[in-house]
Amino acid sequence: MIPDDFKQQLLSRVDIVDVIERHVPLRKAGQNFVARCPFHSEKTPSFSVSPGKQFYHCFGCGAHGNAISFVMEHAGLGYVEAVKELAGMVGMSLPESRPNAVPQNGAPEADLRATLLAAARFYKACLKRSDAAIAYLKQRGVSGEIAARFGLGYAPAGWQSLAEAFPDYRSSAALKDAGLVVDGENGRRYDRFRDRIMFPITDPRGNVIGFGARVFGEAAQEGPKYLNSPETALFQKGQELFGLYQARPAVRRHGRIVVVEGYMDVVSLHQHGVDYAVATLGTSTTPVHVAKLLKLADEVYFCFDGDDAGRKAAWRALENALDQLVDGKQLSFMFFPEGEDPDSYVRRCAADDVWTALPLSELMARELSRQVDLETVEGRAKLLQLAGPLVRKVPAPAFQLQLRRRFAKLAEVTVPELEELFGLRPVVSSPGAARRTGLARSPAMLSLTRWILHAVLNDPSLAARVEPAELDATDRFHPALCGVLELLARCPELGARDICAAAIEAARDGATAGLLREAHAEVLASEKVVSAAEFESALRTLRDRVERRRITELIAKAGRSAEEAEELERLKERVSQRAKQPAESILSSV
Ligand code: UTP
Ligand code: MN
Repeated sequence: MIPDDFKQQLLSRVDIVDVIERHVPLRKAGQNFVARCPFHSEKTPSFSVSPGKQFYHCFGCGAHGNAISFVMEHAGLGYVEAVKELAGMVGMSLPESRPNAVPQNGAPEADLRATLLAAARFYKACLKRSDAAIAYLKQRGVSGEIAARFGLGYAPAGWQSLAEAFPDYRSSAALKDAGLVVDGENGRRYDRFRDRIMFPITDPRGNVIGFGARVFGEAAQEGPKYLNSPETALFQKGQELFGLYQARPAVRRHGRIVVVEGYMDVVSLHQHGVDYAVATLGTSTTPVHVAKLLKLADEVYFCFDGDDAGRKAAWRALENALDQLVDGKQLSFMFFPEGEDPDSYVRRCAADDVWTALPLSELMARELSRQVDLETVEGRAKLLQLAGPLVRKVPAPAFQLQLRRRFAKLAEVTVPELEELFGLRPVVSSPGAARRTGLARSPAMLSLTRWILHAVLNDPSLAARVEPAELDATDRFHPALCGVLELLARCPELGARDICAAAIEAARDGATAGLLREAHAEVLASEKVVSAAEFESALRTLRDRVERRRITELIAKAGRSAEEAEELERLKERVSQRAKQPAESILSSV
């Protein structure tokens, strides 16, 4: 929990140009800087950085954010870490919030980290001494070099082996909180991991945050095949990718990442030269995973077993990916034959063998077609019914168009027919397109609110002219505009330089982030200087449209209450008053 005013101060002190220039060579172009986008591969620069507005935007892949976002995405850091790193650059230090540094349930993070690191070293040393463990790894084809790269270790068979590495074994809170020991009923403490091969799980910077542990040899009949560390303040299973630290350089180099399910799959793939492989940790692919993967590489390959469970898991990954798809990125799915996994496959075949992968659109078509009979009209109608909600989720225009074409073809309808059915705005606009778009977001209303937002981003002081009571209306017609106005109501001191970065911060991970990105792209493309009179006139037009719409709504309503009847009269009066004093129609073009 970093206080908002700290974040704002930080954003106003750093210069995003300095931050980005450390990693990406920038070239001045007019008021802004441009570069080849570090987040997708391209030949001509479509990545812009605005010194005057303190954000970056890629017109190619849609990467967008402020200085904090850049550090997070470029270095793969978590939010707090990124803020700390930036604060360090400008000599600020995070406000000490003691109660947060110590999570409710125990040891401070620094202790947990030190303990996990010491344990990893201990397990590694034990591996050197265990012939059986070494033999097991050899038999699975793991070389000494790869074992070292992944820091593999061995947890000895005893109940309190860790006591050798931790003199305070009996009392250490960190050992317990890190999940390395279990306190038994009689107060006796013992090691969680015994007689197992240890796979340290690290964060993207290589810090150990947990372990996966595999049984082997004679003990293999007992207990689960893999034991994992419990979730801690440092380790959330649904978010981490095993092997990312090791894979990162290759992922960068190839622009490609392979996602598998198992620890051994990762190790084995790296062993065979597929060194851009990572694994989810025994959980299905979560939206957090997808978000991370899409940031890391342009091509993401998910690997699954070819059986029913694998197909279900692939479908879950697909569902979690749809609303995060970005044009220019490619998600594919690979299915392995029964009884085979990436480890066995890569050991049997050469790594550069052709791995046939199904693009996301094909997987979607295949899985949905499986559920219906495409030979019948009913089946094709059903297909459209199933596909509609999924296609609608996809925000990337080119990608969505591909899907529309694919499903139109399968269902034997034309693309416009399909768009009509799905209630989608045509990607390619046609006459009459405006008629089909919903009332609440008529193009006129959208461009008016967009115009207002553009003006406010260029000159935040204009926001003071908006009445608080008008926020509801803006929320309905342009939630991102509403967000910016609310932000300025809270922090009227925000100026033109910092408003965009602060707005990005306020909308982080929220529903308005996409709209805000659009607005910022427009600001980047054209500077609009607006006079107070023009702005007032735009607000008047907005009020007028909002009120007229409400009048239509009230008239259409059967059984108006007394209050509503009164409201209707009041609105009619206001609108007709306004009509008598027509404003100079600066905005007729909007
Ligand atoms: P698999 O059962 O497919 O094992 O589990 P694997 O990866 O092929 O392992 P090897 O080759 O037999 O060594 C896939 C993943 O599911 C999680 C682990 O993350 C494992 O890597 N898992 C599996 C568990 O957490 N616990 C288990 O008991 C089994
Ligand atoms: Mn396996």
